Amino acid sequence: MEKFSGISRRVLLRGSVAAAVAANGLALARPVLAQTGFALPKIAGTDVLKNARDENYWNQIASLFKLSPDFINLENGFYGVLSKPVLADYQQHIARLNETSSYFLRQQYAQEATRIRAQIAEVAGVDVSEIVLTRNATEALQNLIVNYNKLKPGDTVLYADLDYDSAQENIEYLRETRGINTVKITIPEPATYESIIETYERAFAEHPRIKLVLLTHIGHRTSLAIPVTEIAEFAKQKDIDVLVDAAHSWGHLDFKVPDLKADFGAFNLHKWIGAPLGVGFIYIRKEKLAAINPHLVNREKAATDISSRVHTGTTATANVLTVPAALDFHRQLGAANKEARLRYLRDYWVTRVRKEIPNIQILTPDDPRLYGAITSLRIKGKTSKADNQLLAQKLREQHNIFTVARGGAASGDSVRITPAIFTRTSDLDKLVAALKTVAQS
Ligand SMILES: Cc1ncc(COP(=O)(O)O)c(C=O)c1O
Repeated sequence: MEKFSGISRRVLLRGSVAAAVAANGLALARPVLAQTGFALPKIAGTDVLKNARDENYWNQIASLFKLSPDFINLENGFYGVLSKPVLADYQQHIARLNETSSYFLRQQYAQEATRIRAQIAEVAGVDVSEIVLTRNATEALQNLIVNYNKLKPGDTVLYADLDYDSAQENIEYLRETRGINTVKITIPEPATYESIIETYERAFAEHPRIKLVLLTHIGHRTSLAIPVTEIAEFAKQKDIDVLVDAAHSWGHLDFKVPDLKADFGAFNLHKWIGAPLGVGFIYIRKEKLAAINPHLVNREKAATDISSRVHTGTTATANVLTVPAALDFHRQLGAANKEARLRYLRDYWVTRVRKEIPNIQILTPDDPRLYGAITSLRIKGKTSKADNQLLAQKLREQHNIFTVARGGAASGDSVRITPAIFTRTSDLDKLVAALKTVAQS
């Protein structure tokens, strides 16, 4: 170890201390941000709704992010900007990996990855044996769907128009290769809490051979949050397995994975947890592990070990090593405070647009059970891809506001607005003003 520089000795030592802590079964989620020299401000009260309006506090949080001055970013759904302390931690890991090369990967990474996996499990509220890391939610969904082994020819898998494209395609791949049927439902629009549940209940009743249902907790098209737990509980009564795509919800809405009542789940940490790009995980409820086949090249791993369900080869490791810092930031902020602030920001602009710009249609309902930070809109009657790409282009080019057009919902395309915890209400005032102009042109 002597041959490494000061930074390496520090970080290698840090790794071995951490491994010892984990080996002793001591607290898993430990504060790591302090080591980066940054400190998060403390929020004064315990009333999360009041905290959500504390602009002074949130301005201090915003100052922990370095953002491009060139545009207002209201497209924070693709992935989350790293906070300065998490970025500092990430840079240290990149330097450490670069200096120590395969020494670290061969000697220490496995231990650290085990500890990090345990930390994720702790924050997610599951047993460590129920999760395995992936590079993203897409990989998690693919492994879960393609290796689901409970389908016999003639059985049915249910999914919805709002589900993620690649997940839909994975399910159609099952139809093409396994002789099963698929049913694609359309989530009603405008959606209500009751109409979403009824839509699934009706589909379950009409297709008695449904064995697996995909539920997208927060959809990327119209930003709808569906009542996953209620649908999953109903599915259980019908002996239907439930796969939840939580790519957009974990770290955004305040919940623990078991709250979803799902059998399987696909997650990422680079959207709302604030880890670097390229970390996700699979959740498989303990009792359901046998329903997912091991990955085809994992013959040497025990089938009782969930890590046999993923095989990625060499991956970017610094992003995984940065997960504890991201979890620490998330924990210090408080999941409930974070959700409340995100919803406050969403309500801030949606309330004004609904009142002041009748020509704009907001697709995401106002029932607080059906949304988080993200909300989609379109100019009334403008449902085509070209219409919505033009709307996003005008916001970007004429008003310096970055958003994204999304398609694929049965009702047509829309533009998605996604604030983040660093978004200021003054940014949202500019959004409302810009929408007034573009809705008239
Ligand atoms: C609903 C939904 N599912 C899955 C994914 C895929 O996530 P990842 O980019 O982590 O693969 C996304 C990405 O935007 C998404 O919005």
